[in-house]
Amino acid sequence: MLYFDACTHKPQISIPVVTKDTTIKTDTTIITTDTTIVDIMDTSVCFQRDVLPVFIASCAKSGCHDAATQKKGYNLTSYSHIIAKGLVAGNSSASKLYTDCVSGKMPQSPTPKLDSTQLSFMKRWINMGAHNDTDCIVNCDTTKFTFANAIVPILKSYCYSCHATAPAASSGGGIILDNYNSVLAQAQNGNLMGDLQHLTGHHAMPLGGSKLSDCKITQFRKWIDAGALNN
Ligand code: HEC
Repeated sequence: MLYFDACTHKPQISIPVVTKDTTIKTDTTIITTDTTIVDIMDTSVCFQRDVLPVFIASCAKSGCHDAATQKKGYNLTSYSHIIAKGLVAGNSSASKLYTDCVSGKMPQSPTPKLDSTQLSFMKRWINMGAHNDTDCIVNCDTTKFTFANAIVPILKSYCYSCHATAPAASSGGGIILDNYNSVLAQAQNGNLMGDLQHLTGHHAMPLGGSKLSDCKITQFRKWIDAGALNN
C-alpha cells in the first residue's frame, strides 16, 4: 500500500555537481562506480548508450527485425548486424536505416515513430562514422527521481515501443505504461520493480534488451519509495 502526501511543490535548487553512476564496459569486465563529478556537457553520441537501445526497443521486435524474423533481410539486434545493411558510415542521408525512420515509414504502426531525440542520435552516430562505441559514460543522476523528469524519459526510451497505448495490445501483453495511473498500478503490484530487476518469477524487462543500468533502476526505486507521486 502506498501513501500520498498532499500535493506539495518544493522549490528545487540547481547545483552544478551531480552524482553519476558510471558504467564502463570493457572487453572483459564491467565496472560500476558511484562518483561525484562536475557535470560535463556531453554533446557526443555513444552507440551502446544512445543508439543500440533504440534499435532493440523499436526495431528488433518479434515479427519485425529480430534475429528470428529479419524482415526484408534486416537483423537489427546487434552492432555487426546493424551496420551490415542499409547503412553508409559517415552519410546518414544515404542510409536507408535512417531515412526510413525520418520519413516515418519505420517503425511501422502500432510501434510509435522515433522521436526527434532518437533520430538525432541515429543521425549523429552514422555521420560520425557509425562506430561501435562501448566506453559510454552513462548519463544518469540518482538524485533526480520525479515522475516527469526521471521516470517518463526512461519509459519513453526503453518501454513505449511496446507499452505505449497503441502497440500495447500487440507487443506489450496489454500492459500500458504511457500514463501515470497505469504506471502507478504496475508500481503498486510490484511488477515494475520485479521486472526491471529481472527477479525470478517476473518477466525480465525491457523484453529482449539488457537490464537497465543500476542508476536507472535506483531512480525507479527512489520514485516508488517516495510515494510514486505524479510529480
Ligand atoms: C519488445 C517489447 C517490450 C519492451 C521494449 C518492454 N516490454 Fe514490458 N512487456 C512486454 C510483453 C510482451 C509483456 C507481457 C509479458 C507476458 O505476460 O508474458 C510485458 C509485460 C510487462 C509488465 C507486466 C507485468 C508482468 O510482469 O507481468 C511490466 C510491468 C512491464 N512489461 C514493464 C516494462 C518496462 C518498465 C519496460 C521498459 C523498461 C518494458 N516493459 C519494455 C513487452 C515489452
